[in-house]
Amino acid sequence: MRIIIEENYNALSRKAAAIIAREITVKPTAVLGLATGSTPLGVYEELIKMHKKEGLDFSGVRTFNLDEYYGLNPEHPESYHTFMFKNFFEKVNVKRGNVSIPDGMVVDVDQFCTDYEKHIRDGGGIDLQLLGIGRDGHIGFNEPGSSLASRTRLKTLTEETVRDNARFFGRKGQVPHFAITMGVGTILEAKKLLMLASGENKAEAVRNAIEGPVSSQVTASALQLHPKVSVILDGPAASLLKRRDYYAYVEKMASQVQAEVET
Ligand code: F6R
Repeated sequence: MRIIIEENYNALSRKAAAIIAREITVKPTAVLGLATGSTPLGVYEELIKMHKKEGLDFSGVRTFNLDEYYGLNPEHPESYHTFMFKNFFEKVNVKRGNVSIPDGMVVDVDQFCTDYEKHIRDGGGIDLQLLGIGRDGHIGFNEPGSSLASRTRLKTLTEETVRDNARFFGRKGQVPHFAITMGVGTILEAKKLLMLASGENKAEAVRNAIEGPVSSQVTASALQLHPKVSVILDGPAASLLKRRDYYAYVEKMASQVQAEVET
């Protein structure tokens, strides 16, 4: 696991955007797994800038979102559909037909989830999956207790997640209590994973995920089982890591080696 600790949220966002941009540059038909929430907003802003100023081209890119609230219309102002179009898709040249987000209004949920997984497979699998982390250690909406082999399905959100997300809805009563989410097993099938965390309120979840035991109680800890994971943190999110100095040292050594290769 590569642990990158950046000075602040802006630097974290720039670093993550650079990793995603490299993926698209190397493979213009890359399949990206995307996340919503506060954390990736800066990354999307950076990618939009790169598209506008440097011509970063999304025309061949295919995307699959991790999750969507169940019971919300795609047009609902707080749906993840609305989030993705408003904050990213409308501002770059991703083709509408190349975008997949779980449908929060679907009636036959099981069939929908099976089809969603099939679309991912038919698209060649996800090349790079972007992830945030919940305060309870969730990835996607794989709340504590989710099987580490779980697939795309309907999940009941924890009280903590409902409370955390109430900030977007105005009132807790309006926050959906269910979501359709890729499973941990689905996420682990992506070729590369990129998890981001910012702020002190994520420090405990980050420590448990990176340095704790692999456990369904902290589904982000399943990242320890994946061979190609980068985690980008800001200082406060990294503050409880026991080995933070070592992670910083590894990055310093890696950039020295890189510099030597380039000279
Ligand atoms: C969103 C998602 C969630 C969030 C997590 C953190 O698509 O999959 O796992 O990444 O809840 O949310 P923020 O970034 O708002 O703290």
